[in-house]
Amino acid sequence: MDILVVGGGGREHAVIKALKKSRRAGKIYALPGNGGIAKDAECIPVKATDIAGIVRTAREKKVDFAVVTPDDPLCMGCVDALEEAGVPCFGPTKNAAVIEGSKVFSKQLMKKYGIPTAASETFSDPDAAIAYLKTASYPTVIKADGLALGKGAVIVNTFDEAQKTVREMMVDKVFGASGEHILVEEFLTGPEVSVLSFTDGKTVVPMVSSMDHKRAKDGDEGLNTGGMGTVAPNPYYTKEVAELCMEKIFLPTVRAMNAEGRTFKGCLYFGLMLTKDGPKVIEYNCRFGDPETQVVLPLLMSDLLEIMLAVRGGTLNADMVRFKPGAACCVVLASEGYPKHYETGFPITMPEAGANEDIFVAGAKLEDGVLKTSGGRVLGAVATADTLQGAVAQAYALAEKIHFENAYMRRDIGRRALMALKGE
Ligand code: AMP
Ligand code: GLY
Repeated sequence: MDILVVGGGGREHAVIKALKKSRRAGKIYALPGNGGIAKDAECIPVKATDIAGIVRTAREKKVDFAVVTPDDPLCMGCVDALEEAGVPCFGPTKNAAVIEGSKVFSKQLMKKYGIPTAASETFSDPDAAIAYLKTASYPTVIKADGLALGKGAVIVNTFDEAQKTVREMMVDKVFGASGEHILVEEFLTGPEVSVLSFTDGKTVVPMVSSMDHKRAKDGDEGLNTGGMGTVAPNPYYTKEVAELCMEKIFLPTVRAMNAEGRTFKGCLYFGLMLTKDGPKVIEYNCRFGDPETQVVLPLLMSDLLEIMLAVRGGTLNADMVRFKPGAACCVVLASEGYPKHYETGFPITMPEAGANEDIFVAGAKLEDGVLKTSGGRVLGAVATADTLQGAVAQAYALAEKIHFENAYMRRDIGRRALMALKGE
């Protein structure tokens, strides 16, 4: 089967590498892909948000299947458009992708169906939000309703900060239309867990759990980023917690979406916080996480294409999804200065990935055959091993062999998880 993959980041590189291992995979196209993905797929320069261009390319190349991974095209209806054109797809339709596209929608869904989440109020008027925030307790969390490149949630510690954030979102519109409505949310504490799951709208099969490291600097300091590294599995996510999540969160969410006439098929991502009152939903994503996918898929033993076909066909079952018992770690190498200002265009040198290793490229382009940096997050160095300690050590050893001017990485990816394993 020839497959088209929409997107061009490290997550898509991981998806493509996993698809390549499938018995039935033929040619793989990446739209737009990137300079690193070009080693594993034919990259075609069509933007992930150019829905008409994607449909045209799928038809021209006569692909048999398409995988849509980024949030923007999913929320714009890329899957709907491809399916209408006769191309079977992995990914939710637009009316189901709203579970990520609108935080006001997902919050209402959780309230209506009793799915545990932080208490919150919704506002469409800045003055009303500010009046409410005068009496709120701090810290509190302010979230823009729509997509905001992962930057739409702001934790504020004082009323002054809250007022400033509301103005930025609702008056200055720093996130555009995404800030027309906002949520003011109770601040929760506890370990965070990412659980990606496959669902065909009936069955939910969680993948191995993972832990993201969102802040730019060691010790979880600095600005929020798209993710500076990940480990899997997440040691806080015990068997008991997993069972509780299935019963109270995963199945109820899938059933709620069905009841709303928004059946979700694809990868449903649960961003959870394990509070002292039990697991609560921090966010839903309608897609594979980045960089969670870079640690989850290297542990997948089953055939990803078969799973994706079963998700689309409504024949998913838990036996189809098997993971290796070990652990994985991804260390992101970024351009110094990310997520703010950074320079790009530097040549990258890197070794061939060894056994149990992968280098998933996110922000790099090919110029006259030379791979050069082109983004904030440049690539992820990934290793799997029998133990988390082994995976972390090997991922860092691999990262050390990758060079480009301006390279920056966190030095403590996995440290928190290793401490949790030791009971600290
Ligand atoms: P989000 O964009 O919703 O994933 O939020 C980004 C990050 O903000 C999360 O990973 C959490 O670390 C933090 N966060 C979001 N909502 C809350 C909350 N209600 N309480 C505490 N932290 C939160
Ligand atoms: N790593 C978080 C996300 O993909 O949204």
